[in-house]
Amino acid sequence: MNNFSFQNPTKLIFGKGSIAKLATELPADAKIMMTYGGGSIRRNGVYDQVMAALKGRSVVEFGGIEPNPQYETLMRAITLARQEGVTFLLAVGGGSVIDGTKFIATALKYNGDPWEFMVDPSKAVDAMPLATVLTLPATGSEMNNGAVVSRKEFNEKLAFHNPKGFPQFSILDPEVCYSLPKQQVINGIVDSFAHTLEQYLTFNTQSMVMDRWAEGLLQTLVELGPKLVERHDQYDEVANFMLTATMALNGFIAMGVPQDWATHMIGHELTALHGLDHGVTLAIVFPGVMSVMRREKFDKLVQYAERVWGATGTPEEKAQAAIDKTDAFFRSLGMKTRLSEHGVGQETIDFIVDRFRKRGWNLGETGKVTPERVAEILRERM
Ligand code: NZQ
Ligand code: ZN
Repeated sequence: MNNFSFQNPTKLIFGKGSIAKLATELPADAKIMMTYGGGSIRRNGVYDQVMAALKGRSVVEFGGIEPNPQYETLMRAITLARQEGVTFLLAVGGGSVIDGTKFIATALKYNGDPWEFMVDPSKAVDAMPLATVLTLPATGSEMNNGAVVSRKEFNEKLAFHNPKGFPQFSILDPEVCYSLPKQQVINGIVDSFAHTLEQYLTFNTQSMVMDRWAEGLLQTLVELGPKLVERHDQYDEVANFMLTATMALNGFIAMGVPQDWATHMIGHELTALHGLDHGVTLAIVFPGVMSVMRREKFDKLVQYAERVWGATGTPEEKAQAAIDKTDAFFRSLGMKTRLSEHGVGQETIDFIVDRFRKRGWNLGETGKVTPERVAEILRERM
């Protein structure tokens, strides 16, 4: 097992009717900026619940944070927050609203152009306090300190972590997910599955508890996935999904294990260049990473095939089953898992490989996902 230190300061407030708890959780004297997305919260009653809980408070609103939050939009929020003397940020939405709000929180404590800490994340060291009301189980952003922000003029989508960027608390009411479009539920299942694999499907480090926890999350998603695609208005099913998504990326399954993240880094490029949803990109790329990195990941592929999919046969057959079953699972949810199905071709592969070369990126748990192997991975997924 690798050495590690672990701390997660986010208070998780979970369950029916828990949005009302905002009234007591928010600091009494805060000047609050409530951030949200394109308006889903106005249609599904979440806005009204939040506003009822914020009654009598000093609140300024900033709506319009788009999926894959954009630098330009967030810069407008920063100007508003400064004008209004905001002291606390409340994000109400999915991963995009929460990530955008983490960017705002970091920028408000940063001297200089905020894009600097996107390019060099070691510069993100302080943040205004923030909290969240989560409306979409997927990213884990509600209980981690990471964020991903896009900048259209550069066709870039970059991630950063801020040690002070954890939400102080996050409210998770499964009932607010009933209004999700089906595609967002599918995206969320694939995203949380991929988060778990990024921290599990590496090489064996004898972190036995982490392995079993990760396998538990994967098995839960395999069991719940088809039910949620069918309908997502059954409280316990949605509640279990919501908790799984949070647990998949809040640091709990990362203790003592190496981490991969190559799929995510490649996927971010597909979103930046073609606007594909984050979850969609992961469903395309992950089976390719498994296939091209088969030798490096062999023992874990076999273990995953046995324990999550009940595969039998020789080790080679099990490793192949791991790849095939993963692709088939994503497809069974309704995902298209090939680049050609999204009209993405060789030109994009060349662009991404060239960009990774210029950035000097060698990805994966051992840095063996070189730009050449990224090309192989993407060609395999045509
Ligand atoms: O904008 P509104 O109108 O709210 O609509 C949103 C949006 O159109 C809608 N939605 C959210 N909750 C809803 C709802 N519609 C109806 N009912 C509800 N309850 O769903 C659409 C997608 O929302 P978005 O926030 O973009 O989705 P998601 O939560 O999947 O977030 C994706 C973003 O998170 C980043 C991704 O790269 C992407 O930018 N990630 C963040 C991570 C992190 N911070 O740790 C890790 C992830 O790997 C990921 O990279
Ligand atoms: Zn993700």
